Amino acid sequence: MAKEKQVFFCKECGYESAKWLGQCPGCHSWNAFVEEKITVGAQKHSSKRSVVAPTSILDVTTADESRIKTNIGELDRVLGGGIVKGSLVLVGGDPGIGKSTILLQMCRNLVEGEHKILYVSGEESPSQIKMRAERIGSFAKEMLLLCDNDMDNVSASIQKVCPDVVVIDSIQTMLVDEISSAPGTVTQVREVTARLMQLAKAHEVAIFIVGHVTKEGTVAGPRTLEHMVDSVLYFEGDNNNGFRILRGVKNRFGSTNEIGVFTMTETGLKEVDNPSQVMLNGRPVGVPGSVVVSSIEGTRPIFIELQTLVCQTNFNMPRRTSVGVDYNRVNLIMAVLEKRAGLNLWGYDAYVSVAGGMRISDPAVDLGIACAIASGYKNKPISDDVMIIGEIGLAGEIRGVSSVQQRVKEAVKMGFRTCVIPKSNYDKAMESLGVKIVCVSTLMEALSIMQG
Ligand code: TYD
Ligand code: MG
Repeated sequence: MAKEKQVFFCKECGYESAKWLGQCPGCHSWNAFVEEKITVGAQKHSSKRSVVAPTSILDVTTADESRIKTNIGELDRVLGGGIVKGSLVLVGGDPGIGKSTILLQMCRNLVEGEHKILYVSGEESPSQIKMRAERIGSFAKEMLLLCDNDMDNVSASIQKVCPDVVVIDSIQTMLVDEISSAPGTVTQVREVTARLMQLAKAHEVAIFIVGHVTKEGTVAGPRTLEHMVDSVLYFEGDNNNGFRILRGVKNRFGSTNEIGVFTMTETGLKEVDNPSQVMLNGRPVGVPGSVVVSSIEGTRPIFIELQTLVCQTNFNMPRRTSVGVDYNRVNLIMAVLEKRAGLNLWGYDAYVSVAGGMRISDPAVDLGIACAIASGYKNKPISDDVMIIGEIGLAGEIRGVSSVQQRVKEAVKMGFRTCVIPKSNYDKAMESLGVKIVCVSTLMEALSIMQG
């Protein structure tokens, strides 16, 4: 007999509890429990599964590693070279960032390559999808649309049509009938994903799931969703400057942290071939506090302009803000500047920002942040043909960073004349690249070069 039961789930990690709790014992987040009704005993469990014997790893063949190219270079890059058959990919991002647009553009390219596509939308009607399709350039070949949110129908369609790629827009609108809670709740999202996973693996179909994100920036629903899928892609960027960055945060079939850069235009998303060029566009010349750094995003270096504004504070506590770089990192670098380089920053407000709306976490930008703050503080500009990389230690030492050769080569390509790098990264081969290499081992040394 089916019986309805009331349970509480943690929104963050999916922890289940019989009563409401203030703090989740699973992930320690506060106020994350939501009430849901589940039906116990209604699900039909298939009788005992067939017994599967263990296999030797030597007998496993991996012949079917072929990937389907989407022909959107930046998307292929983030996916690790194309779509893997039977994979489950989660695409997250703020509303209106372009998740539906990029997936529709992908579908158009795929149908042109004679792939069978099923586009499932629980949010839009066929005519709305058609309207969007017309904006991005019309479809020449057939693509199947299904505007429904019932998982049973979706599942039946997938089995009937046998497509190569399925798009589910979005996971929060899909519904499994046997579960009494509303679409978008923890139990529903988890169950829908589990079913999609089974379909993907059983029928070798690649499934793209669109997921809305919460205010905190994670996919709404349990964090477990991210563990279940094969790849997680996040769309980021602010709506004002038109850049859209697609970031791979998890990828079972390729490297993570690879990014793809797009701009939103009248006719859909366009790839940006040279992100460094675009990020440095419109850079002020000869202004104190501006410096160019290089951040490794996935496998390629991207050049970004860091801007700082240092001005006398009018309050007891100086104000510090950072956009695009970690706030605590900025505070730490300022403390090192005070202690090891003798800059009296305590009386100054400091604002640090990454131009172009990117978020960087590469520690190699530390020295750039320090030089930009020092430049702003001393009101002395840093020459605009200098690129700076290096990680800062608490003793004021400059530590080595990764992929220096690659960054220097990119600097040459972009027309920079001088590269400031950590001494431990120096390699004789760099001399022949046609750019002046300045090696520094301490923060003091780096700052004295800046002044000279
Ligand atoms: P959409 O893909 O619907 O966002 P999501 O699915 O992530 O919520 O993108 C919608 C935004 O993109 C909307 O603000 C309009 C804009 N847009 C364009 O500027 N050009 C276009 O060609 C398209 C299709 C959308
Ligand atoms: Mg959408």
